[in-house]
Amino acid sequence: MKIGVFDSGIGGLSMQRAISAYLPQYDYVYLGDTARAPYGGRTHDEVYTYTKEGIDFLFEKGCSLVVLACNTASARALRQIQQEYLAVSHPEKKVLGVIIPTAEAVTLDCGSVFRKVGVMATQATVESLTYKIEIQKLDPTADVVQVAAKELVPLIEDGKIQDTGVFLEKYLKELTEQNIQALVLGCTHYSLLEDKIQNIVGEEVKVINQENIIPQKLKDYLSRHKEIDDKLSQGSSIEFYVTKETTHIHELATLWYHKDPKLILVNITKHTT
Ligand code: DGL
Repeated sequence: MKIGVFDSGIGGLSMQRAISAYLPQYDYVYLGDTARAPYGGRTHDEVYTYTKEGIDFLFEKGCSLVVLACNTASARALRQIQQEYLAVSHPEKKVLGVIIPTAEAVTLDCGSVFRKVGVMATQATVESLTYKIEIQKLDPTADVVQVAAKELVPLIEDGKIQDTGVFLEKYLKELTEQNIQALVLGCTHYSLLEDKIQNIVGEEVKVINQENIIPQKLKDYLSRHKEIDDKLSQGSSIEFYVTKETTHIHELATLWYHKDPKLILVNITKHTT
């Protein structure tokens, strides 16, 4: 069985790269739902339905474990998928998100040094309050301030990374004015902007990129769950699927993945049950 990695688009390719660099022995299947990205302005029901279709596709491709690299899917759909769908229809399969491991990284794993944590994410992730809830479950005294960066994902998907600066200045000012000590990049797409973001917030703010957290957390999870690890095949392969060929998809995919990942076009809507 393989490990699936799901994102609303191709932003998760950088997470795929980080995971497969850290755990190169496994077989992976990446799916980016480029036909319906961005998810960030979508309703709970849309994000749930699309994420479930993505997971079904990955299960059919032989995945027994799926990582939702997408924060919006993790925030909006993960709990319902675990409790209502997997528990009933696929009790032997696992779907993991990125928000709880990130919350652990900014609290317990660093001795709860950050008293005020900023989160920049999509509108759907911010409105779900998932980051605030999960961070404060682990450290009730931590203050969490959020900003929904609505314009960033569409600009990045359109290949206009050079136009993100003015929006970054505006959003990050809202957070730095509140004296944050750490900033969570709560969306796969923002890792491409990490250097620009660090320049704007200054060295005194610790920028938290999930690519530095999730691979290690996945390794820890597999070492704690031998029954899952034992089922995973170890052929060091990766297949890449997307649901639409967008204008800039190949140049962006290469930016994220650091080489052309050879994307295969697929229709996943037929997987709705
Ligand atoms: N990949 C999504 C995330 O990590 C953001 C992009 C979108 O809005 O679809 O939240």
